[in-house]
Amino acid sequence: MTPAGHGNDPLPPLVVDALRCSVCGAPIGAADRTLRCGNRHSFDLARQGYVNLLHARIPAGTADTAPMVAARADFLASGAYEPLADELARVCAEADGLVIDAGAGTGYYLAHVLDAAPGAFGLALDVSAVALRRAAKAHPRLGAAVWNLWEPWPLGDEVASVMLNVFAPRNGPEFHRVLRPGGLLTVAAPAPDHLHELGDLVLAVDERKEERLDGTLGEYFARTGRTEVRRTTELTPQQVRQAVEMGPTAHHLDRGGRRERLAAVSEPQPVTVSFTVSTYRRL
Ligand SMILES: C[S@@+](CC[C@H](N)C(=O)[O-])C[C@H]1O[C@@H](n2cnc3c(N)ncnc32)[C@H](O)[C@@H]1O
Ligand SMILES: [Zn+2]
Repeated sequence: MTPAGHGNDPLPPLVVDALRCSVCGAPIGAADRTLRCGNRHSFDLARQGYVNLLHARIPAGTADTAPMVAARADFLASGAYEPLADELARVCAEADGLVIDAGAGTGYYLAHVLDAAPGAFGLALDVSAVALRRAAKAHPRLGAAVWNLWEPWPLGDEVASVMLNVFAPRNGPEFHRVLRPGGLLTVAAPAPDHLHELGDLVLAVDERKEERLDGTLGEYFARTGRTEVRRTTELTPQQVRQAVEMGPTAHHLDRGGRRERLAAVSEPQPVTVSFTVSTYRRL
């Protein structure tokens, strides 16, 4: 086995060591392109390099769809959210061992963090196999596994040094269980003024989101910092379409004339790009 999985190669050994069988919870080992536990449950690596550990159906509408993932990948590749990626890399620079990105999507942010932390390996967890096809190729030190974050995670206790969570579901008890004592949790969320110029083409951000965030995590974590990443910029008409199509309003384009209004965007749009990055220590 090579020390670092990339694309079609096996998962990094550190990732395999951290994983547990999603059927029985036993440790698993990797041979060729199959993960197997001592109780003969096995999981094949997909051709694109990720492993699917799911064995229960997931509710429709949970995973990002192929068009959403394609829009997100193109939008992120345009560099529009690079300041956020840089900030996440800065706050996670201490990472060593395993960094888990919960709801990693295409692996864009996790790859940035791994670039800044040469001793670390990454695990991208997401329920969207389409997104993880891209994540598996996003960085040589990154492995990817399909999983529903609302189920108990197929991972051992205290296996990770850093947990990353960017616009994705937050499972406080599982963040706590898989992070080692003193481990770092980094949560990125859109601020209330994020893309507000686009009105109802994007979903409005809850003004009390940060309060709720601290409330959800407070039982398991102490907040140690919060930074704002904010700038005004211009999005091309194509970036505006991608920003809409990669988000939840992609499911509701037929309402309120959204599709027509989106099609009518023909000039660059001035927008505010605004996020908060909160850091927590595991209690
Ligand atoms: C808004 S996207 C953010 C993706 C990535 N963090 C990024 O910012 O590029 C939310 C992601 O969470 C994933 N997701 C939603 N519900 C999930 C669940 N229950 N378990 C695992 N992943 C989930 C979606 O498939 C999607 O990739
Ligand atoms: Zn098993």
